[in-house]
Amino acid sequence: MKSEILRLLKENDTYISGQQLCEQFHVSRTAVWKVIEQLKREGYQIEAVRNKGYRLIDSPDVMSRAEIESLMKTAWAGKNVIYYDEIDSTNNRAKEYGEKGSPHGMLFVADKQVAGKGRRGRSWESPAGSSIYMTILLHPEILPTKAPQLTLVMAMAVADGIQKMTGLETKIKWPNDIVVNGKKICGILTEMSTEIDYINYVVIGVGVNVNQETFPAEIQSTATSLKIELGETVRRSGLIAAVMASFEQYYEVFMKTEDLSGLRDRYNSMLVNLDQEVKVLEPGHEYEAHALGINRTGELIVRTPDGEEKEIYAGEVSVRGVYGYV
Ligand code: BTN
Repeated sequence: MKSEILRLLKENDTYISGQQLCEQFHVSRTAVWKVIEQLKREGYQIEAVRNKGYRLIDSPDVMSRAEIESLMKTAWAGKNVIYYDEIDSTNNRAKEYGEKGSPHGMLFVADKQVAGKGRRGRSWESPAGSSIYMTILLHPEILPTKAPQLTLVMAMAVADGIQKMTGLETKIKWPNDIVVNGKKICGILTEMSTEIDYINYVVIGVGVNVNQETFPAEIQSTATSLKIELGETVRRSGLIAAVMASFEQYYEVFMKTEDLSGLRDRYNSMLVNLDQEVKVLEPGHEYEAHALGINRTGELIVRTPDGEEKEIYAGEVSVRGVYGYV
């Protein structure tokens, strides 16, 4: 009820009467009053005027279940949020809920992770107060071999969400890093539980650098944050909602064909590597090639110097720019 009351207050510039809230949520005036008091304690400025009702004057920049849910405009993606001030890893938590059969679209968000995971067994630094750490739980009815493509779907959604919220030009470094001005701003980690021909669940974890002002020396040359690029603080809850709105739309397109046919052109238009020379890093073998964009299953098509076209699969290979990260 708290999320819904907050949503109503946000969507209306005028006063909403206590009576209206009681009728809408089938609760007593005292119950409504308690929620309003709780919101005020959390930093929401709410004006209460006798015979008129309640009006939201200002919202704090907080991440909480109520704040995120009140901004969500989706039918299912991120409609239910589980929020933690601190957690080991939102991916781990989403997998636990996946095991229990929790519903498609549930979103796990944390302010801080103490065991954040990156790709290839690396860790993901996850201090409090500045980033987005979130994981969506999905139950897609597709073959397990197709699930890695969902990572690219999420990459498109994050790129879109950031662009809509901030106006910054976002690009994707194949397969799924989001870059702004040539530096990484977001990483995505997909994990799943499957049978041979059936997916129990997929979790897609997203880490976005939002309000960091500095990075450790090792990643300073390749990492950036929205605050560094924009020069101002960005509200994390709003960005989460924007990413979920794009993800839901792209996911529906993906599910029509169970591949990236309907999204490929758009993905390629976001691809920072498109039509660029890249260094392909295969295990034990490295070569330069010209990137031509992805195919309908998300592999990167490259042309080698001898004119051969190859489709490279992200699981085994990564690419870099010839002179650096992109
Ligand atoms: C990468 O290495 O680029 C992927 C990083 C993914 C980090 C996110 S943060 C939220 C979710 N929980 C985790 O433990 N990892 C992912």
